[in-house]
Amino acid sequence: MKITSSKLETVAVKPAQYPETGVKEIAFAGRSNVGKSSLLNLITARKGLARVSGSPGKTRTINFYACEGLIEKDEEKSSVAFRIVDLPGYGYARVSKAESEKWGEMMESYLENREDLLKVIQLVDIRHKPSAQDVQMYEYLKYYGLDGIVVATKADKLSNNERAKSIKEIKTTLGMKKGDIIIPCSALKRTGDKELLDTIETLLEG
Ligand code: GTP
Ligand code: MG
Repeated sequence: MKITSSKLETVAVKPAQYPETGVKEIAFAGRSNVGKSSLLNLITARKGLARVSGSPGKTRTINFYACEGLIEKDEEKSSVAFRIVDLPGYGYARVSKAESEKWGEMMESYLENREDLLKVIQLVDIRHKPSAQDVQMYEYLKYYGLDGIVVATKADKLSNNERAKSIKEIKTTLGMKKGDIIIPCSALKRTGDKELLDTIETLLEG
């Protein structure tokens, strides 16, 4: 699949602000600064779609992106409308208790009741063993049946050898199951995007 068009549809902090249901959604979750916005820009092939920043905690709202996908199979073309949802990052050191509670509420109300949400793709930094918060987030996704797809970001920062080792460690630490998918991606080197898009295509078809 290719994403042929994408645009920011809605920015929300509470359910009343979410866009109307009836369109399948796939969300990105992960630590602040892990590369969620960069990954979104990579797979939509739009450099400036989501704001990328050196200072963590940039995305503090739930951002809904309306996407149009083009699927080509055996010379047949079809298109599919869906949304990618950029969730606010966690683990940002300089947040107050009130802010972190607000984050929790925001995530819970989205993950609990969103009927069109197919999957949450969890992002972890390929260079580090998943943090306690990563594990907690993944457990949470398991609870809601939204787990099973992980993207290891910033793959350009490691050698092939180190990458394989790290992938193993991520799988074990998160307690990923057989058949679960982990995709190393690099927004910098533009790798992993095809695999992720194919995985999203399968989700949309399922
Ligand atoms: P928040 O919005 O704060 O939650 O962050 P985010 O998860 O959206 O991360 P963002 O995409 O803004 O990227 C954070 C930093 O990591 C930026 O400085 C990016 O340039 C850098 N970065 C993201 N992806 C990659 C990658 O694949 N390789 C490298 N080397 N750097 C990356
Ligand atoms: Mg972001």
